[in-house]
Amino acid sequence: MSHHIVEFQDVHYRYPDGTAALNGLSVRITHGESVGIVGANGSGKSTFLMHTNGFLLPQRGSITVGDMTLDKKTRQEIRKKVGLIFQNPDDQLFMPTVFDDVAFGPLNLGLSPKRVRECVDEALETVGGLGLSSKPPHHLSGGQKSAVAIAAVIAMQPDILVMDEPASHLDPKSRRALINLLGHFHHTKIIASHDLDLILDVCERCVIIRGGRVVADGPAEEMLSNRQLLEENNLELPLSLQKRDWSPGGDMNEITKLHHLLGHWAEHNAEHAKTYQDWAKKADSLGRTELSGLLMKIADETIAMDGLFRKAMEVCK
Ligand SMILES: Nc1ncnc2c1ncn2[C@@H]1O[C@H](COP(=O)(O)OP(=O)(O)O)[C@@H](O)[C@H]1O
Ligand SMILES: [Mg+2]
Repeated sequence: MSHHIVEFQDVHYRYPDGTAALNGLSVRITHGESVGIVGANGSGKSTFLMHTNGFLLPQRGSITVGDMTLDKKTRQEIRKKVGLIFQNPDDQLFMPTVFDDVAFGPLNLGLSPKRVRECVDEALETVGGLGLSSKPPHHLSGGQKSAVAIAAVIAMQPDILVMDEPASHLDPKSRRALINLLGHFHHTKIIASHDLDLILDVCERCVIIRGGRVVADGPAEEMLSNRQLLEENNLELPLSLQKRDWSPGGDMNEITKLHHLLGHWAEHNAEHAKTYQDWAKKADSLGRTELSGLLMKIADETIAMDGLFRKAMEVCK
């Protein structure tokens, strides 16, 4: 299935201000693989991903997607095959309604209005967002925005799905929903994330990038359980593997206990936020717009609070 291979050969890229972000990056990803891209901040993950669909073009070296070499002429065609989901959903959503945002790609592919509607419904259903169709994207919560950004890309039915930090705006519940969703996608997937637990759950292969080059590449389980390799790259063992280090029961100290508790509390936040959103929708359908807006705000604040819980969990370590 050579038509789905993504191959980078010795790719170099320097930003206009002189920052050398990719310095001879080579990697080959074949059909159906799910590949996690990890590395410290500034290691070049986003720059790498932005080359996969020609958003950026290599200044040296070459990129091929299937039988096409990426250049100015082929990038339109390559974008149909490679769907890139940006880190910040606000960079992706710019239309007056969710429907328009998700329909934008299929309309540009020249599909009939009926087919466009089908594509949009299918994509929104996949991400659990059918009810959002007529909403303005800026009224959505972080998790809903991410879901819609994903729908906007899968509506184009790309062969290869590329995501930059997909969980960074999500509360624990939406994050779990995303992991389930990705697990059911049989696309080729390339996912950059700091969330090594997500990579471990979703990807069978993991590539570590440092200084704009690949420094390690192998089975995700192996890469992500190698403490020394991770530390050399300013990364930490995934939380799910860290827990194995704690002796169960017995000498669990107070901070360890607190770490666990914070995890539970954070889960409740996510559940509560969901309840507030559900009631916001009910209030909205009863014509109580102000009440609905307030409840959405409460939900958003609750989700934002989740960041504090995660931070506290980090500090516990
Ligand atoms: N628009 C830009 N202009 C100049 N330098 C940039 C730009 N975007 C990223 N960089 C730099 O390129 C390097 C790689 O960045 P990036 O690809 O965003 O890494 P990562 O996604 O791994 O954090 C970093 O040194 C970063 O500061
Ligand atoms: Mg990045």
